[in-house]
Amino acid sequence: MNEQFAKDVKEGLSKTSKSLSSKYFYDEKGSALFTKIMKLPEYYLTDAEFEIFQTKASEIIDLLGISAHKNFDLIELGAGDGYKTIELLKSLDKRNFHYTYSPIDISQKALCQIEENILQQLPGKKIYPRKGDYFHILHDLKKSQFPKVILFLGSNIGNMNDSLANSFLSNLSDTLSGGDKIILGVDLKKSKEIVLPAYNDSQGITSAFNLNLLTRINRELDANFDTSLFEHIPEYNEKEGVAKSSIRSKVAQKVKIKAIDLKVSFVEKEHIHTEISRKYDDVIINNLCFNTGFKVIGKLTDKRNYFADYIFEKQ
Ligand code: AVJ
Repeated sequence: MNEQFAKDVKEGLSKTSKSLSSKYFYDEKGSALFTKIMKLPEYYLTDAEFEIFQTKASEIIDLLGISAHKNFDLIELGAGDGYKTIELLKSLDKRNFHYTYSPIDISQKALCQIEENILQQLPGKKIYPRKGDYFHILHDLKKSQFPKVILFLGSNIGNMNDSLANSFLSNLSDTLSGGDKIILGVDLKKSKEIVLPAYNDSQGITSAFNLNLLTRINRELDANFDTSLFEHIPEYNEKEGVAKSSIRSKVAQKVKIKAIDLKVSFVEKEHIHTEISRKYDDVIINNLCFNTGFKVIGKLTDKRNYFADYIFEKQ
């Protein structure tokens, strides 16, 4: 049994305002559903960021301010399938830059997938995947004497509230040296009409992705959630720029989670909060940098202005 998962589920479902962490979405089924989400017509984030990397890779490289004949380390946190990054690698190779590329992920499967995709598009390319926790590996990579460029794409930071994101950046900053860069991909604040459908697609994939968390608890913690008695509830607060997902109980019911010896009661329409997906603007991004040692030195957007890749420099 995954002890941390057991502990977090027990804690989250014992509170008056129930919650489960979005980090637990990504079991095998959840990861497959997320791959499907990225291809949905409503989920504009992936296409928008791909467009930035496809059309503006050279601009990104110029902003990094690295010289073509010196070595540097390109490190990606939670690389996913690597499709966006491949556009950057192609551009770097074309311009004869010297670098090593290390995708970091906790999933071996994700790392194999990315290696396969890279080899397909860049035959013979050597990469240095690292399996494990971001900060453990970054600590390890600190030994390298070369300048670093960290990629954190896909608005993955959006699952953190601002205070957590600020500490995350501070921790990241501690593993870097002056002049090192971050390329941070974030979804931008925009109208409800565009954001909400991205979290409420017509094929119900996002709903399945959210409810899969209950199936995971059933399997891993011997529980009896009936997923047909729960529903996916997406919300978006346009002013705040925060999308929130919940699982709502359709009826009053009790659920047993044997492995943690917990009986959970739900009243009709009670929510389990499962995810926030923060949307950003320049003010929020500057606030996130506060006291982290990072300065914003560049911003690239897609042509619809839906998404941005910010470049931060460690001072
Ligand atoms: C992977 C965190 C960027 O919040 O948009 C997609 C996850 N959740 N649909 C996001 C997600 C529901 C996604 N991130």
